[in-house]
Amino acid sequence: MEKEFSDILTLQEIKDRTEKYILGTYKRSPVAFLYGQGEFLFDTDNKQYIDFQSGVAVTSLGHGEADIIEAIRNQADRIIHTSNLVYNREQAMLAEVLVRHSFPSKVFFTNSGAEANEAAFKLARLFGQQNKNGATSFLTLENSFHGRTFATMSLTGQTKIHSGFGPIVPNIKYMPPNDIEALEKEIDENGTELCAIFLELIQGESGVHPLNIEYVLAARKLATENNILLVFDEIQTGIGRTGKLFAFEHYGVNPDVMTLAKGLGSGIPIGAALIANKFASIMGAGMHGSTFGGNHIAARAAYETLRILIGREILSNVNAMGEYIMTRLKAMQAKIPVIQEVRGIGLHIGITIDRPCADIALACLENGLVINCTGTNNLRIVPPLTITLETAAKGLDILEAQLRILK
Ligand SMILES: Cc1ncc(COP(=O)(O)O)c(C=O)c1O
Repeated sequence: MEKEFSDILTLQEIKDRTEKYILGTYKRSPVAFLYGQGEFLFDTDNKQYIDFQSGVAVTSLGHGEADIIEAIRNQADRIIHTSNLVYNREQAMLAEVLVRHSFPSKVFFTNSGAEANEAAFKLARLFGQQNKNGATSFLTLENSFHGRTFATMSLTGQTKIHSGFGPIVPNIKYMPPNDIEALEKEIDENGTELCAIFLELIQGESGVHPLNIEYVLAARKLATENNILLVFDEIQTGIGRTGKLFAFEHYGVNPDVMTLAKGLGSGIPIGAALIANKFASIMGAGMHGSTFGGNHIAARAAYETLRILIGREILSNVNAMGEYIMTRLKAMQAKIPVIQEVRGIGLHIGITIDRPCADIALACLENGLVINCTGTNNLRIVPPLTITLETAAKGLDILEAQLRILK
């Protein structure tokens, strides 16, 4: 090895290596963080930032959470990885917690959100084959985001994500969100071909757009009546982000399959597909698998994340802080003309601006606030679920100052 990590300290040194050696698939902001504590990040010059991004809704308990670190350390000391060819205590215990706190009877573990959706996709195809005369078609929504693997990219209802990779997976139809009539018509005409409907209850990547309750209830009813699997992609909305453990609890209906990732492992990569009892025996031995999925260290981190989230009543902070941020944003909207709309549930909040917002996010960064611009003209606020009032207020002050100066 040529150098120790501690020898590489400047942003320029990190940037040079990144540009030289890493495939250029990301448009990165000009910063590298070396340290994090709670809702704060510190860069290569030890400058402090407020984190309204949480590694894209991942580090929900904040940075440096002592019990998460202790659990990971302790697990690393014992065993990091074996395989899914043997039993795994941490995985079994995590699955039990997930099942006890929600609707499913079985869990399949993955390393990412896309893989959790891939598992749901494969399960749906098997369901179609076994229970519905070989039905293979899917419905998803326009402007949805389900991942970057081939099947999940294809499920994603955005042509810019498909661009250059065609032909994408066939037999997927993209429906307009919240249009019950269109959904009824489609199912009426082609329901016998359908094996699954995939829904993000709040479309995150396209700018935090919640589905309305009537639409989700209609989808549930139509799916049940027509023997179609209803999959909720809660990869971004799950694990407390919306003020309930899972966003579907706001809607009062259960899915048949729910996918999770992001906040589940507090930054250690882990995803899961949670499957209702009725569909839990569709996949048998050898039909799907993953080398790393739910390995000891990932499962232990996720177990600890859920233990903290449930045990410390963090959801009440999510609701209180979400309300505070929304109230302030609404007040800002009344005064600042570039703000077109504010939306959100809990600490999953989007602000539509009247122009592309990458430069606004960059200006916030320069002023000590990490915030993300998504879907071209939406700022997304997804801070740690543990954020304090004082820090939320300071972050909003930085954002407000940047929005006020726009003409
Ligand atoms: C709703 C949703 N589904 C799926 C994914 C894909 O997850 P991953 O990037 O972990 O593969 C994401 C990631 O942003 C997401 O927000």
